[in-house]
Amino acid sequence: MNAAIRPIRKAVFPVAGLGTRFLPATKAVPKEMLTIVDRPVLQHVVDEARAAGIEHFIFVTGRNKGVIEDHFDSQFELEATLEARGKKKELEALARDLPAAGQTSFTRQQAPLGLGHAVWCAREIVGDEPFALLLPDMLHHGPTPCLSDMIKAYGETGGNLIAVAPVPEDQTHQYGIVGVEDAKAKVSAITGMVEKPKPGTAPSNLHITGRYILQPEIFGLLEKQERGAGGEIQITDSMIRLMQDEKQPFHAVRFDGTIYDCGSKIGFLTANVALALERDDLAKDFRRDVEQLLGRKS
Ligand code: G1P
Repeated sequence: MNAAIRPIRKAVFPVAGLGTRFLPATKAVPKEMLTIVDRPVLQHVVDEARAAGIEHFIFVTGRNKGVIEDHFDSQFELEATLEARGKKKELEALARDLPAAGQTSFTRQQAPLGLGHAVWCAREIVGDEPFALLLPDMLHHGPTPCLSDMIKAYGETGGNLIAVAPVPEDQTHQYGIVGVEDAKAKVSAITGMVEKPKPGTAPSNLHITGRYILQPEIFGLLEKQERGAGGEIQITDSMIRLMQDEKQPFHAVRFDGTIYDCGSKIGFLTANVALALERDDLAKDFRRDVEQLLGRKS
């Protein structure tokens, strides 16, 4: 890596959302704690960040999200019971997942003012260094973890990076969309961005998938950011200003795996089926049952 490029040590996870699409499940349980097979959605995304070498995990939470903090802590009574019962494998698995002491930070977004505002809430903990931002709803599943691909690209480009993937044209209005110099390249300079463009006005079909590497100057812009699409403070609007007004480089990194939008019921259920079918301990019996079910229904 170029010595002038500062390493990415910290990752921000905005987890303050209410999860209204999953009520009543999310009345007392944060949507990020719903499970894909046997790991919470959020754990999958933290796994991705750890695999990419992230050392500090910053969660921007809200009211009723206390169990997220408990999940990333050790659980003495549980561990003692497992120990007493000789459950060595389970104990080892818990120990593998546990961040080291001091590797997690929690702060709260006090009002639901938008993604940009949630990220701004992490400014004191991130400090003056570049950081990763991962949106937990979007499960990126592929041969190499998306953030690892991005950090590799960052070693060459520096600056800011956004993961992108194609979406059908009739869905571009649901996402942030970027225009790039070379839509086929794995890494390409970004030429424009827009948050949730009106149908027919998107600069391309490449959507922002929910993985970012950002320079700390974004915080000063977020502080002044006015409300944008949906009446919310949008991270995309501040990224546009960082690129256009402050002339910071932005590159898109194409993600070639599958993305499951676990904020939607269909995406969440599909992710459960897909990941269960990949599990050595479940695949055989689960496939049999699913096939039986589908055979019965068709
Ligand atoms: C956010 C971002 C958007 C991105 C999307 C990915 O939108 O603002 O640019 O494409 O996440 O899920 P939201 O889903 O919060 O409306």
